[in-house]
Amino acid sequence: MKVTVFGIGYVGLVQAAVLAEVGHDVLCIDVDAKKVENLKKGIIPIFEPGLTPLVMSNYEAGRLKFSTDAEEGVNHGVMQFIAVGTPPDEDGSADLKYVTAVARTIAQHMQDHKVVLDKSTVPVGTADKVRRVMEETLRDRGVELTFDVVSNPEFLKEGAAVNDCMRPERIVVGTDNDEVEELLRELYEPFNRNHDRMIVMDIRSAELTKYAANCMLATKISFMNEISNLAERLGADVEKVRQGIGSDSRIGYHFIYPGCGYGGSCFPKDVQALIRTAESIGYKPRLLQAVEDVNDSQKTKLPAFIKRHFGDDLSGKTFALWGLSFKPNTDDMREASSRVLMETLWEAGASVQAFDPEAMDEAQRIYGHRSDLKLMGTKEAALQGADGLVICTEWQNFRAPDFDVIKNSLKQPVIFDGRNLYDPERISKRGFVYYAIGRGASIQIA
Ligand code: UDX
Repeated sequence: MKVTVFGIGYVGLVQAAVLAEVGHDVLCIDVDAKKVENLKKGIIPIFEPGLTPLVMSNYEAGRLKFSTDAEEGVNHGVMQFIAVGTPPDEDGSADLKYVTAVARTIAQHMQDHKVVLDKSTVPVGTADKVRRVMEETLRDRGVELTFDVVSNPEFLKEGAAVNDCMRPERIVVGTDNDEVEELLRELYEPFNRNHDRMIVMDIRSAELTKYAANCMLATKISFMNEISNLAERLGADVEKVRQGIGSDSRIGYHFIYPGCGYGGSCFPKDVQALIRTAESIGYKPRLLQAVEDVNDSQKTKLPAFIKRHFGDDLSGKTFALWGLSFKPNTDDMREASSRVLMETLWEAGASVQAFDPEAMDEAQRIYGHRSDLKLMGTKEAALQGADGLVICTEWQNFRAPDFDVIKNSLKQPVIFDGRNLYDPERISKRGFVYYAIGRGASIQIA
């Protein structure tokens, strides 16, 4: 099937590559000429395991093409995916200017019937907006052409995006038209074998499903972080509590890991956007607001521990930081807790020596101008002469470090662990002072 994807970001590129992999003829359009040129040379704009070979092999096979020519894009596919960004407005609501710009472009150039699919995470009612924009544009052109708008949200996780897209747990389709449903069944057939994963519903429900899924996951994390704060004060160990509740199959083990707060491009943005949507229709979403508030304060926990240990004035101090990305297996630092940590430390006069397996370029891009940040080549180098070690991301190779090296490199054997990587008793026996999240039973930190 001929498919066009507008927007070569995370969602667009991964979806396009995966559709090409199963044999569809996919053309990707982006306004960023540099990005398009780079892709043709095999330079992929994001770090995502498995994505580079997938893009390259399909590009070489001619099933995956890249262009900046929007008209060519519109003429190519029966299916027109909108996968452009929806960055937050100043007030946190999703900014739809890129989505509506693509809708207008499609209507400007289309010569026959098109199926327009919203892949971006867009507020409830966006499909109606896309339809209105397209109708207006067609009216201005003075042509009578038909089209359908479908909500088809993406559920991929950064770091596991290719696999999530190749083996989706569900394919949510919001449409009011049986023929369109049939076309989508054909498009997604290769991903829908063995049992039917396609969940078809009305458009608004599909739009809300995406927000509900992300907000539910964010709620689980904030809930667990709230319990971790209680555990600390009550002398309980949240890691024991986590196993205790996870074993209840109604709760499950996933997404109940306490930590120094969730980040990334989805949870913070989507929780805020749903709050704004709710407020715009006069409903006060108390639970969602609490989810956001707990997360904001969770991000201040590590700096608070550091100040508790060293005092409020950190001038002259240097901290080793392991982990800059918002989670492992990505170079993405959007809304990462490492940023709140560094910015708070800098404000208190301290400097940071940081290491991350993938996000060094990104850190350089964002904070390269700062003299109080040194980006170090290895995790060991980051420790040299630092007053303490802080961990913000649970990269695998932070899990079993050489503790003697840590001890000998730091001025004081103190670790502030935002991801609960180590056993508190074992690490205390090695002579470290260990601050972790919600582990009041093993070490008294309250
Ligand atoms: C998320 C959703 O998982 C995905 O379905 C959606 O389409 C987009 O948003 P992503 O942002 O890539 O994906 O990352 P995810 O793995 O969900 O992690 C989000 C954040 O939550 C990370 O900062 C992570 O460290 C944190 N987290 C996750 C916790 O603090 N505790 C947990 O138990 C799980």
